[in-house]
Amino acid sequence: MATVIDGRLLAKKLNESTKEEVTIMNSKSIVPCLAVIIVGEDQASKRYVRSKHKKAEQLGIKSIVKALPEETTEKELLSVLDEYNHNDSINAILIQSPLPKHINEKFVMGHINPQKDVDGFQTINSGKLFLNENENYPVACTPKGIMKMLEEYNIELLGKKAVVIGRSTIVGRPMAALLINAGAEVSVINHYANVNDYTKDADIIVSATGELHTVTKKDVKSGATVIDVGQNLNEDGKLVGDVDYDDVSQVAGYITPVPGGVGPMTISTLMSQTVELTKWSEKHNE
Ligand code: GUN
Repeated sequence: MATVIDGRLLAKKLNESTKEEVTIMNSKSIVPCLAVIIVGEDQASKRYVRSKHKKAEQLGIKSIVKALPEETTEKELLSVLDEYNHNDSINAILIQSPLPKHINEKFVMGHINPQKDVDGFQTINSGKLFLNENENYPVACTPKGIMKMLEEYNIELLGKKAVVIGRSTIVGRPMAALLINAGAEVSVINHYANVNDYTKDADIIVSATGELHTVTKKDVKSGATVIDVGQNLNEDGKLVGDVDYDDVSQVAGYITPVPGGVGPMTISTLMSQTVELTKWSEKHNE
């Protein structure tokens, strides 16, 4: 049976250290501030944004949530972003994805001040990641959190075969870059590929397709590490991942559950990266 990678426990540890850092900052009258912009009525996005707000407040991070209506124009959104980009009391900015269809998401994300880009999606930060020069630059929170999970469980990456399923800006692409930077042999595949062709020999599988049964028992070699980024509702309305958890647990060496795996680590990483951005901006302004 696979060892379960306990995302909740790791997130709790990371949150405790973030809170300690925030307390020290507060004693110097510094309050890290995260601004989240959400446009429209996507229910899952609203839920994620509420969780982020709650966690920030628990850790002593100031949280601003700007909820804009569905019909907000790209120009109006850019104007709010511009104001936040120039507001010295805001250290970190996140624009919740997906944006409504009439807004060019990549274009808007590209306008985030790179020094406040807590998602690491901005062009400069993405470039730094791909050049393996990201040490003092923000990196997309879900993949960064996954790397912490792999590290905490001493899962070796150097020279190992890794397969990333899904090539989104939020997870697949930055995940692949982090694994390449760690020395893994990385394949990135689409959800419609024949997954088994790639995963059956893989040491590490990261699934981020948002589709049930993307990874089944026959797709996983004995002892492999399986990371499940999916958040899907199954036929019974229950929250599950992309991976057939019960079956795959019988063959995998390590596995992340849903819920309680990647999700909590993403939020904790967002909070710790907000604090890092605050430290970096304090340094720049010295
Ligand atoms: N939507 C789902 N996950 C994310 C994320 O990590 N960042 C942003 N900005 N939007 C998201």
